Amino acid sequence: MDLKSHRFILYFQEEQATELCQVATVRSFKDGMLVFEENEIPDSLYLVLTGEVEFSKSLGPNHYQAIAWAYPNDFFGEFGVLDGQPRSARAICRGDTTLAKIPRDLLMEILGRTPGHVVLKLFSHIIQYLRMTTDQYVHEIMHKQKMALIGEMVNTIVHDFKSPFTGILLSSSMLREMHPEDEETQEWCHLIETQVSRMLGMAEELLEFTRGTSTLQKKPVKLSEVFAKFEKMNRIYFKEAQVDFVVSGVEDIVLAADDNKLIRVWQNLVTNAVDAFDGKGGRIEIAATQQSQWVYLKIADNGPGIPQEIQSRLFDAFVTYGKRGGTGLGTAIARSIITAHGGDISFTSNSTGTTFLIKLPVAESVVDSGIAIEPNFPVKTVTY
Ligand SMILES: Nc1ncnc2c1ncn2[C@@H]1O[C@H](COP(=O)(O)OP(=O)(O)OP(=O)(O)O)[C@@H](O)[C@H]1O
Ligand SMILES: [Mg+2]
Repeated sequence: MDLKSHRFILYFQEEQATELCQVATVRSFKDGMLVFEENEIPDSLYLVLTGEVEFSKSLGPNHYQAIAWAYPNDFFGEFGVLDGQPRSARAICRGDTTLAKIPRDLLMEILGRTPGHVVLKLFSHIIQYLRMTTDQYVHEIMHKQKMALIGEMVNTIVHDFKSPFTGILLSSSMLREMHPEDEETQEWCHLIETQVSRMLGMAEELLEFTRGTSTLQKKPVKLSEVFAKFEKMNRIYFKEAQVDFVVSGVEDIVLAADDNKLIRVWQNLVTNAVDAFDGKGGRIEIAATQQSQWVYLKIADNGPGIPQEIQSRLFDAFVTYGKRGGTGLGTAIARSIITAHGGDISFTSNSTGTTFLIKLPVAESVVDSGIAIEPNFPVKTVTY
């Protein structure tokens, strides 16, 4: 953008605006170039004409936390210019950037000759910006602390539950051995074992999410098999909650996916629907369709709908509503898994129900050559 039409210049009356343009030096910066370092003594104010500048604070050797960004028409470095204190953060250009630099002494001199109401307007902008960046920073820090706290809590729980879980698994396998011919015992024991691994899997998933160390083990998976497994794991849960669970259109669809992570997505969304039924029972319908290399899944319930208050922030972490003990991570985890698969998730909701729409890529080998899943297909690991 043009220096003369920059917001900072436009605050001033014509005479001072012309003077400011004359004393400013315009300079181009390459991506990653330093504008100033934290704790440096300030000598100038900067106006962003093109590109982007990132501000970060040092948290230790080679460890920085980004706290704010400036874009064209923004200005920065004004605090140091006004109070002469060392810079509170370092500024680095992101992408090719053009900045206009106004030296501190000349700016102070021009400000001294500027009418009071112009300076007040400038201050009001500076205070507004300060408020906004402080809010952003506090929000970010709180988010991080909540994540760390949940991570710590889950870690303790997993640790404490390990020995009772081992006890349950051991007893279940002994029961199996005692009744090798009894199909029902075998079936129930299998259920106990899958539910215990499910609990451990859930805790592990939560731990990875809070630490930001989740990984996908992608391979071609049959959608019908994933849903069959999911249905089996939840049969008793659905029966007790009086939920009709119907799946259609999943036959012959093969995805490039991590089946356990997909089950986590279905679980989080379906549990939300069951919670929303509030003990009154309901219907959950899953319908899949394939269009060239994409699979579209609808997960629809006939519950009371997602509260209006949280709809715009639903997928953000810690957004929960009307639940005792809700952490607000279910849909955030679901979205992180779907996007890590290269897919997309959205929803529509009203007072007669909610439908989640999920788009996922089918396995490439299936699109390219129509071949079936090979048992030893190489697994692709993706970290997200
Ligand atoms: N199908 C649905 N019907 C009605 N409300 C829903 C539905 N899905 C989500 N919600 C609302 O969205 C909120 C956020 O859901 P999310 O799964 O992210 O967190 P949570 O269920 O509150 O906690 P967590 O999943 O971590 O135990 C829920 O508290 C609930 O109010
Ligand atoms: Mg939930």
